[in-house]
Amino acid sequence: MKGPNTVFVCQRCGAQARKWLGQCPECEAWASLVEERAPQAASADARPSLGGEQAQRYAEVDTAAAARLETGVSELDRVLGGGLVPGSLVLLGGEPGIGKSTLLLQAAAQVAGAGHPVLYCSGEESPHQVRARGDRLGVTDVPLFLLAETCLERVLEEVGRLSPGLLIVDSIQTMFSTALESAPGTIGQIREAATRLLFAAKGSNLPVLIVGHVTKGGELAGPKVLEHVVDTVLHFEGDRHHSQRVVRSVKNRFGAVSELGVFQMTAGGLEAVPNPSELFLAERKADVPGSAVFCSMEGSRPILVEVQALVGAGVYGNAQRVTTGVDRQRLSLLLTVLEKRVGLPLTGEDVFVNVPGGMPMLEPAADLAVVAAVASSLRNQPLRGGAAVFGEVGLAGEIRGISQAEARIREAAQMGFAQCVLPSGNVGSGVAGVSCELVGVQTVAEALDALFP
Ligand code: TYD
Ligand code: MG
Repeated sequence: MKGPNTVFVCQRCGAQARKWLGQCPECEAWASLVEERAPQAASADARPSLGGEQAQRYAEVDTAAAARLETGVSELDRVLGGGLVPGSLVLLGGEPGIGKSTLLLQAAAQVAGAGHPVLYCSGEESPHQVRARGDRLGVTDVPLFLLAETCLERVLEEVGRLSPGLLIVDSIQTMFSTALESAPGTIGQIREAATRLLFAAKGSNLPVLIVGHVTKGGELAGPKVLEHVVDTVLHFEGDRHHSQRVVRSVKNRFGAVSELGVFQMTAGGLEAVPNPSELFLAERKADVPGSAVFCSMEGSRPILVEVQALVGAGVYGNAQRVTTGVDRQRLSLLLTVLEKRVGLPLTGEDVFVNVPGGMPMLEPAADLAVVAAVASSLRNQPLRGGAAVFGEVGLAGEIRGISQAEARIREAAQMGFAQCVLPSGNVGSGVAGVSCELVGVQTVAEALDALFP
């Protein structure tokens, strides 16, 4: 079973064993031993060198940023921080069927169309299948090379032969190295493949995009080590029942994190959405109770989203609190604040809160919009039309200041909102050149007074 130069290493404590064991003899973790290459084998291996450069004096380091390779897919470039950095390893994770292969094929075609040869290695689909998808996406005759291969050494051989400007590996879980005997998709193989691709990327200044599958829980399948090895981790998210898709950067050595790219899945592939606020508010009915508009910040990008609430008499003692896009515990806290500080009778009421469009809102700045939507549904009275709401709610019912208020106000004004209800600490001297009226509030009660006509 065991290859000549491999050991079994506990992924939890690092203990080594010569054969596979169900339980680690050191830390007693179960099923944590994984086959890896023995260290002496790794040092004897002729890995491509990283350049073998000498240490440089700080002041002598070149300050000019390396030219990035634009993928030509505007929303993807935005998330990457302006395109792919040469020699960087980028991981795109997402659930099966979300559109990872589609997005990367579109990017590959654009890059190839701009004159840089692209090697697209698929361990999941035949060139015929990829071509069929490409035809639907309108890919024309460009220097795009398809390789159906799961052997890593073969992939690297083709890289050497074609010297492409971009390498795409779909997916890392299907790749295996002949240096290890474990099956593709095991932790040892994934780590080996990622590390070898990293060396290939750094060694020849080649940007490499790899696809990673995620488990049901949203974790990248395979070890956390994969996330540590790569330079950039992008998550592709979305609800399969809706056409909206977002790409979020959760780690980026060459750009800001939590940047967001928004797409729509159409019959012709993924379409970039340059104005997401418009998309997320498209189906909103303004004069209905229980609807509030919140301006969220995704990285450096303000996006307006609707928060919906529905309050109805539940079975006493068995009230339901159901949320989509909002944290349930946060909702419980906000309902208690409404009850204690404003005196709204919410005990025993069923409360449902929903953010349509599948945008998760983890920001505390969304608190006031949730509170406003719940109060509006409870009173069965719509909120004042044309107002956007944001602010964090404290336990005493106070409204706390939030970050990046100016960007949020500008976005609301641009989308035609005449008023922003926000923490008084954020009103300051207003925002130059914006016609939006700013209503500063200090407590939840004040905010509700301002929001109901
Ligand atoms: P795919 O890129 O194969 O997903 P992944 O690689 O993440 O598993 O996308 C598959 C889904 O996308 C599939 O359900 C069909 C849909 N799709 C479209 O709606 N339009 C298109 O033009 C393409 C190519 C796919
Ligand atoms: Mg795929």
